Amino acid sequence: MSNLSDSRSWKALWEHYQSFGRVFSGKDYKLEAAGISFDFSSHFITEETIALFLGLLEELRLKEKISDMFTGKKINMTEGRAALHTALRSREDEILVEGENVMREVRRTLARMRRVAVAVRGGSWQGKAGKPIRNIVNIGIGGSDLGPVMATEALKAYSSRELAIRFIANIDPAAFIEGVSGLDPEETLFLVASKSFTTTETLKNADAAKNWVSGDISKHFIALTADVAKAREFGVHESNILPLWDWVSGRYSMMGAIGLPIMIAIGPEYFDEMLAGAREVDEHFRSAEFGNNIPAMMAVLGVWYNNFFEAETHLVLPYSQYLHRFPAYLQQLVMESSGKPAAHQTGEIVWGEPGTNAQHSFMQLLHQGTKLVPVDFVGFENAIEDVNDHHKILMANMKAQREALKKNGQPSSSLVLERLTPKALGSLIALYEHKVFVEGIVWGINSFDQPGVELGKKLSRNILKTDTGF
Ligand code: F6P
Repeated sequence: MSNLSDSRSWKALWEHYQSFGRVFSGKDYKLEAAGISFDFSSHFITEETIALFLGLLEELRLKEKISDMFTGKKINMTEGRAALHTALRSREDEILVEGENVMREVRRTLARMRRVAVAVRGGSWQGKAGKPIRNIVNIGIGGSDLGPVMATEALKAYSSRELAIRFIANIDPAAFIEGVSGLDPEETLFLVASKSFTTTETLKNADAAKNWVSGDISKHFIALTADVAKAREFGVHESNILPLWDWVSGRYSMMGAIGLPIMIAIGPEYFDEMLAGAREVDEHFRSAEFGNNIPAMMAVLGVWYNNFFEAETHLVLPYSQYLHRFPAYLQQLVMESSGKPAAHQTGEIVWGEPGTNAQHSFMQLLHQGTKLVPVDFVGFENAIEDVNDHHKILMANMKAQREALKKNGQPSSSLVLERLTPKALGSLIALYEHKVFVEGIVWGINSFDQPGVELGKKLSRNILKTDTGF
């Protein structure tokens, strides 16, 4: 269906909405799956709302669309590609893309990542002066940065404390200066992370890194890219080039070679646990009826507020300091996937900060302001390691904020897991990936390309050529 307004269910939802006030359900809506407890009781929905949306998902043949994604159909239609980020964590033996079994490449690349991670963590990867590598500096931007940054921050408690893991993304010289500050070039390994190996910021920072290391770079550079030739041209040794594939979009790529800094930080075993958590949500998403399907219901709520109540933003509040970069990662996942043209509203603005910090910053607006802002609270029953009764106070605040928001007529969901483990993180990542996918199916957009960002790149190249200054 090209135009949503032709949909019988969509028309029925608009009629249903007309008779709708901002009334909370009053029902105890909860789903449990993959170690996630999803409470969506505090929302302006009724059984009829849910039934009408389930009718819409059936009418849009969502089940079939999910199968198309998992089996490598070219659902990224504008680029003529599959969107097979789920293959990166799959246990299946065979998934064919143009007759090629991609699982062979996926497994081979995971094995190569493990070898690098074990060598660096064990001190056997030595620089040109024979010193063990102690510093990892990832040079990349967007999907080649935000996911790895979020995950290495989220899993700090599971990480080696002997290694310095740093990230350089921005072309602002401050990013490079601070990124290498205090590091010894002879103990530093750069990961040049770029699917295209054409991104200006990344190539300029990689050049600066080459000069900073000076001389033989062979033991100080690994490339993570879909363009092996360009990486070789840059000077990276063939054996140090790990492949990305065009059937994984950048913002969905951290469970493949782009995730190398994560695997070096936490080790291959914990990385496998993160893949297992994502896989468990994949299986839930593929098998659960949509009324019991957490990503599908998150998407239903997203569309309900975005398209009917005209809420323009969605706030994600992780009550976890380790997840302080989770909202930034979600911004690219959601807004680069869903910020697309259509005859109706599409992608919402995502924002967020960890609780309880948010309570001392912007929550006043939600409690007494005039904006409708649906909220996802993300929390954990237990701390990884507690200090006195800090975690109990943290979670009491999360619960209190939800109750206060309800009193002020603000809708919210909560996603609670037992503890922030690599598995839990993998599950959260897959949950939001699939929520975005379902919203894209409802809006009839391609969630896996990003043509809108090309104009900015082209204009900056022209400005650089003319160099007219400001
Ligand atoms: O410009 C947007 C974008 O293409 C993102 O989609 C991507 O994650 C980022 O730039 C980096 O691209 P690359 O990995 O090819 O350097």
